[in-house]
Amino acid sequence: MYGAEKPSGDSERTAFRRAEKKYKLYYDDSSLKSSRKKKQAKPVDVSDVIDFKAIAEAHERGGELPVGVAAAPCGFRRPVFCLEGRPGFYFIPGALSLEEQCQWMRESLLSFPQPPNRTNHNAIYGPLQDLFAAAKERKVLVKDESDGDHPTWKFVDEAEVPLRGNGCTSCPASALLRKLRWSTLGLQFDWSQRNYDVSLPHNKIPDALCQLAKRLATPAMPQGEEFRPEAAIVNYFASGDTLGGHLDDMEADWSKPIVSMSLGCKAIFLLGGKTRQDNPIAMFLRSGDVLLMAGEARECFHGVPRIFTDKDSAEITPLELHFSNQDDCFLQEYLRSSRININIRQVF
Ligand code: SIN
Repeated sequence: MYGAEKPSGDSERTAFRRAEKKYKLYYDDSSLKSSRKKKQAKPVDVSDVIDFKAIAEAHERGGELPVGVAAAPCGFRRPVFCLEGRPGFYFIPGALSLEEQCQWMRESLLSFPQPPNRTNHNAIYGPLQDLFAAAKERKVLVKDESDGDHPTWKFVDEAEVPLRGNGCTSCPASALLRKLRWSTLGLQFDWSQRNYDVSLPHNKIPDALCQLAKRLATPAMPQGEEFRPEAAIVNYFASGDTLGGHLDDMEADWSKPIVSMSLGCKAIFLLGGKTRQDNPIAMFLRSGDVLLMAGEARECFHGVPRIFTDKDSAEITPLELHFSNQDDCFLQEYLRSSRININIRQVF
């Protein structure tokens, strides 16, 4: 899982790597040279990117499906699409209501990074409590060396930092929030061993998320079986962040799907084949879309080479309005330049 390809000479020659480079965010050189100009993204050709939202709208009006796309006959309450040549892959455009998107975006920031869940910050700072609240309150993380043998980190008010003297190691909570890259729920994934470490303390995945995942998983589930959510990885993307081509292959039973929910800014998802030499299929992922990958699709390389944070392409206006109505400017601000993916797994 997450064994992102290194951009060595060889890997640049794979079809997957070429597609990643095609869609990745590059800036216009002239905008980088001038300190007065706002950085401008280079235009990207998205004419080959499948747009399931447009396909679903046309399908609802009785239009034909594009070549290679089929509607899955699964009696789900929304149209579910699959792709020729990629058995086990399902796309449910707009599967989550606006309320669900807001709820899971909020949980992803406020409760999912809370210990004992682990995040990418654990390796450096140990468990961090209330990162989102600390960022909102403009707190700063400082090293507390009062117990010489076991220094710990804690959030303090900005005003307290200079009082702690020179040489004090500190980092604004807002910068740490921006650098939050993943958190893990349920059974904890050990990235160094690339395996689940069942001995690590963990809380169960919240029941409401389990129920949602069970419902969403049904189109990809073997007849008569129910999906059992046991672990989830939450990925946080800021502008320019990517997720390199990888396989999710650490779960025992690949007949069970990975349920993957998109929140926030629009992205491009690449679904490759069983080798990196296979040409990947590119598709847009919008807030509220859900992907299922089961069976043979579990053996397909996939990744996210691009998120769109500019106002016209991000397509987050309804979410922004929702947060502004709730007077949550901080969440609204985070959302404007971010994407969150929650992918839920049955491990055993
Ligand atoms: C993943 O491949 O694990 C996440 C995909 C996504 O961010 O949509």
